[in-house]
Amino acid sequence: MKSDNSVIISPSLLSSDFTRLGQELTDLEEAGLTWVHWDIMDGAFVPNITFGPPVVAACRKKSRLFFDVHLMIKDPDRYLEDFARAGADLLCVHAEACTHLERTVAEIARLGVKPAVSLNPHTPLNVLEYILPQLDMVLIMSVNPGFGGQKFIPFSMDKIRDLKEMIRKKNARTLIQVDGGVTPENTYELVSQGADVLVSGSAFFGYPPYRERLKVFEKAALGQA
Ligand code: DX5
Ligand code: ZN
Repeated sequence: MKSDNSVIISPSLLSSDFTRLGQELTDLEEAGLTWVHWDIMDGAFVPNITFGPPVVAACRKKSRLFFDVHLMIKDPDRYLEDFARAGADLLCVHAEACTHLERTVAEIARLGVKPAVSLNPHTPLNVLEYILPQLDMVLIMSVNPGFGGQKFIPFSMDKIRDLKEMIRKKNARTLIQVDGGVTPENTYELVSQGADVLVSGSAFFGYPPYRERLKVFEKAALGQA
């Protein structure tokens, strides 16, 4: 169990109003959010297609939020530099999409961006065993990536707990992020198992005003829902 149940909420822009992306970012910042989650999809690693580097770069000029960029794309090495230039603060690649994961992670760090790795629900934690100390964050996917609004896969809870233990044993400072089907209802258990950063799309943007919604998640994390 985590002794400190504080949490970072990273709202997923996938559920935001795309016609007002710049305004959404301003609203998030004014509401007290510090992170924002970009779901980059290529129509190959996942069925959907979303944003590319020019969209991220344009929004970077409007926002001081921490850009948490989740790359759901095949062979992400091809685009690391573009997303780094676009202003990503953190780049998260999928282990399943990288043939030489250690090299990819090292390249992200070389570009001056925080490296993170995401695991699909079926992917075991042990692929990260030796590179864990190089990672600023691990993203546990709690749905199969590609769409917002899916149901949380229950075994993800065990995976978070096991990852927390692995991080402790390695004496690493890696954050644990959880993405998919996160709601105020499962927030307390997620944070108690070790989650540090929660991504929320539909359960966040569907419930304005954002300042109030952030408070709902923060209180839920403390068990005060
Ligand atoms: C799914 C994306 C998620 C998604 C989460 O492929 O990686 O970030 O936006 O959406 P919700 O919170 O609605 O499950
Ligand atoms: Zn995501």
